[in-house]
Amino acid sequence: MIQTSSQAIALENKYGALNYHPLPVVLGRGEGVFLYDESGKQYFDFLSAYSAVNQGHCHPKIISALTDQAAKLTLTSRAFHNDVLGQYEKYITEYFGYDRILPMNTGVEGGETAVKLCRKWAYEVKKAPKNHAKILFAEGNFWGRTLAAISSSTDPSSKNGFGPYMPGFELIPYNDLEALEKALEDPDVAGFMVEPIQGEAGVVVPDDGYMKRAFELCRAKNVLLIADEVQTGIGRTGKLLACGYDGIQPDILILGKALSGGVLPVSAVLARDEIMLTIKPGEHGSTYGGNPLACAVAMSALEVVEEENLVENAYKLGMIFRERMQELVQKSDLVNSIRGKGLLNALLINDTEDSETAWKICLKLMGNGLLAKPTHGNIIRFAPPLVIDEHQLLECCDIIEKTILEY
Ligand SMILES: Cc1ncc(COP(=O)(O)O)c(C=O)c1O
Repeated sequence: MIQTSSQAIALENKYGALNYHPLPVVLGRGEGVFLYDESGKQYFDFLSAYSAVNQGHCHPKIISALTDQAAKLTLTSRAFHNDVLGQYEKYITEYFGYDRILPMNTGVEGGETAVKLCRKWAYEVKKAPKNHAKILFAEGNFWGRTLAAISSSTDPSSKNGFGPYMPGFELIPYNDLEALEKALEDPDVAGFMVEPIQGEAGVVVPDDGYMKRAFELCRAKNVLLIADEVQTGIGRTGKLLACGYDGIQPDILILGKALSGGVLPVSAVLARDEIMLTIKPGEHGSTYGGNPLACAVAMSALEVVEEENLVENAYKLGMIFRERMQELVQKSDLVNSIRGKGLLNALLINDTEDSETAWKICLKLMGNGLLAKPTHGNIIRFAPPLVIDEHQLLECCDIIEKTILEY
């Protein structure tokens, strides 16, 4: 059936839940850094599906791992062993330097798993009194949409209207070590779950050394540092993990999104034996977690990151991007500043958080062949696939500059 964009949008609006507010573009194909709408118009993708498509759209190696495995075996559940899971577990634990992995599907399930692991560890290893364990979160965090995730949220649109909320969670300001130190005085605190850069909050980058010091403070109180690298991990910020900037190995690491290169939902929680082995058979799981299709895809997605030097590329091109945007800040009164690391960046617009300016700029960018999405009324995140080359990046800087200067 041939359909126009407006027909496709009308169908979504009539039959779908209206829980998103997408830009009015209907995409039908993706390749590398490009997306194409149904008229064949080409766009640079500067969202990468919220950093899931670090390896570029439909990466041939990942797609071939997908189709090869899909033709053999896709799902057995964990009621039986499968012949890919063990290979994947060995591969990913060595890749990130952990003893064990617990495979899940979406990022939020990864977060949920980490929270459960931390509580179990608190009772079994740290010997916290039953049902007393507390987990700290930073204000502005985002880790998904389940009731546990929104219970720790400070964003009214994520949280309001869905109560009652999960107990045992406490909030402290982000990038505030004094507040962390004070909160850690409570002996019931078992973990601190934190993003090394807050993505959905608008690419909020903490002070240098924040994660390192947070890790040390937690360690001193026998509290687990849980790093949510679902968005920042796997090369996005110019290091394999954003925690790499602080040279720390979090006690629990959560990965998702780019773990499959945007092909299917694959997430992972990594930890050392002392933590991971507190969960026993039957105590946690997921029908699709660790399925052979996901395992084959994830191994191949991680191989691509290494083979194509995507971490180094993100680091180098991130520097160039911020330099160019810094020049734009000088030239335009509309933009306030640029912030970010690697290829996870945000342009701050001189307007209020509840304004529509960032949205309107994104519409203009779309017209000029670049797709990006505001994270707030005055913040636009720029996160292209890490396979982008310097020539393409400079072309995108030109598009952004032209769009802003003409606005
Ligand atoms: C830091 C972080 N954690 C967790 C999630 C949740 O991932 P998912 O949408 O796959 O559940 C997100 C999603 O944006 C995220 O940015």
